Amino acid sequence: MKVTFTLLIFLFAALTLNAENGHDLWLRAKHTAPVNVVCSGKSPTLEIAKQELHQGWQGKANATFVLKKKHDKLIKGDGYRLSPGGIEANTDLGLLYGVYDLLRRQQTGEPITEQVENPSYERRILDHWDNLDGTIERGYAGRSIFWHGKDSLAVTEKDKKLWQEYARADASIGINGAVLDNVNASPLVLTTEYLKRVRAIAEVLRPYGIKTYLSVNFASPSVIGGLKTSDPLDPQVKEWWKNKAKEIYKLIPDFGGFLVKANSEGQPGPQNFGRTHADGANTIADAVKPYGGIVMWRAFVYSANDEDRAKQAYDEFMPLDGKFHDNVIVQVKNGPVDFQPREPFSPLFGAMKKTPVMPELQVTQEYLGQAVHLVFLAPMWEEFLKSDTYQEGKGSTVARCTDGSIFQQTHTAIAGVANVGLDTNWCGHPFAQANWYAFGRLAWNNQLSSDQIADEWVKLTFKPTPAEDRTHSTVLPIVWNINFLKPVKRMMLESREAAVNYMMPLGLHHIFAPENHYGPGPWWAPKGVRKDWTPPYYHQADTLGIGFDRTENGSNAVSQYHEPLRSLFNDVNTCPEIYLLWFHHLPWNYQTQSGLTLWDDLCYHYQEGLDQVRSFQKTWDKAKPYVDKERFSVVQKKLRKQCINAQVWKDACLLYFQQFSRMPIPYNIERPV
Ligand code: GCU
Repeated sequence: MKVTFTLLIFLFAALTLNAENGHDLWLRAKHTAPVNVVCSGKSPTLEIAKQELHQGWQGKANATFVLKKKHDKLIKGDGYRLSPGGIEANTDLGLLYGVYDLLRRQQTGEPITEQVENPSYERRILDHWDNLDGTIERGYAGRSIFWHGKDSLAVTEKDKKLWQEYARADASIGINGAVLDNVNASPLVLTTEYLKRVRAIAEVLRPYGIKTYLSVNFASPSVIGGLKTSDPLDPQVKEWWKNKAKEIYKLIPDFGGFLVKANSEGQPGPQNFGRTHADGANTIADAVKPYGGIVMWRAFVYSANDEDRAKQAYDEFMPLDGKFHDNVIVQVKNGPVDFQPREPFSPLFGAMKKTPVMPELQVTQEYLGQAVHLVFLAPMWEEFLKSDTYQEGKGSTVARCTDGSIFQQTHTAIAGVANVGLDTNWCGHPFAQANWYAFGRLAWNNQLSSDQIADEWVKLTFKPTPAEDRTHSTVLPIVWNINFLKPVKRMMLESREAAVNYMMPLGLHHIFAPENHYGPGPWWAPKGVRKDWTPPYYHQADTLGIGFDRTENGSNAVSQYHEPLRSLFNDVNTCPEIYLLWFHHLPWNYQTQSGLTLWDDLCYHYQEGLDQVRSFQKTWDKAKPYVDKERFSVVQKKLRKQCINAQVWKDACLLYFQQFSRMPIPYNIERPV
């Protein structure tokens, strides 16, 4: 009896859970009207396209909708032409993307007029920092969906189902690549037993147009190949990479290529053998070249010398511009230090003119409250992509410098470090799903606004399905503009600035507690620890002032930017205040544009950040009637924690800095501007 009862409860929970636990992401529309799909071709990708149309069609009942492959010069790559009666594309995948676009428009009420949609980047890739033992570096949503350790390499039906759901979510937003393992790569991933699992993953991902890639360890030839060296110019080493590539492409003919973290944070690399990054990248790139593969070579390098960390990647990579083979792309993090809540763009963008450069964004919120804080990252990425580098005149934005609009590039790409894990809702926080969504949408179209992305995501994610309406009669139909959509969108769009305010405003950066990068730790500087791994290196606070002097009188990092930025950043009077303490060391009583002293302005920003989170709590409380119980209460609880965290950030940072400023923390401060 007891067993039956428990079983019933379990069954009931399982049935109701799926609708509410966020597992369906932004793909919640269920069949509402029948449609006739006319499609002449046949392929696994087209089967998916047809199935999606039958399952999600919300247009006129019994309408006829045509999917047609047709050569059209205006359509690039896997782009498509969408019109009310059908979709045309050069490829099957283009047709599938068109279907997802159409369904999104039907669900969000966007007009469907005739238009051509082309992707901004050829390769739109998620980098999974998944370790082969199933843990995820900087992952906050459970364990890996790809790996469960060396004793579980056999592929199960459950694995396949999950990979398929993952692939569908990716394809629905245009993502077409996945790097399956951590950049701190284990050489083992290139052994045959692991490669067989990669093949199985690739087979599930393929119909959705997703290529698989692997992060590789530069020392693989010696560690798993038994060679005496991994010197990239050694003929045996070159041969080893060629044979490895041959083995991989036999298993996975459409394998995308390799991602390499070399000579960075203890990883081996060509410099161990007196060679350059270009020597290392080219050897591996030559091995995959015959099969159309690429090498994404990361520029995330810095060492414990006396040079400003923010300058090191540029100094190391600029002399190599033009020395990389044409299937190498240099992968550069958006900022010159490390995925901080705010950084100016890395000066490598636009500066490397003879080498394709791809942006690396971080979808997982390592430095932005992880799976606890509600921080929508699209505004940060929009700010970055729209930053003008001035490298080829005004309007040389990061977006245009990387998507092929300005420089002739054989390949274009963009990567995001994934926030996906085994958690039922995939990302840990229901709103973290919006960051996955935003990455895909921006990778497809790097001109989209954060506002549009938030609008789409909220409409798709919170629209109750008819089934939910029936099960939960308490959930009111969404009143899009006034009561739900508008305030929730406002909260999302403000959330990144709020995090900057309560963590590290006015250009402060990297003042996190060590290791976990979650809470504040501006004081952390034990003896013997590399100084560029301690926060005081970055904030430089003393009784005279605060901030990192990167002007001509300081580290001269400003010199790496093109004019007029160099002068603009160099001069405290023209430096945008969002980067003030990134570029300048200033006295506590320096007057900011607000008219306040720097100290008072800092206090103001910390308080402002906290107030913003409090306002998010109020916004969410009012959203209660429109959201299912489970997601409502998860978000509510997380916001409560975020608010406590914001208070801790403010108190910890201000009390710590106060020992230097020796000024009182103002109460109820007004900021005129
Ligand atoms: C950050 C992060 C590391 C990661 C590194 C990288 O430093 O904390 O976990 O390995 O970036 O991007 O390589």
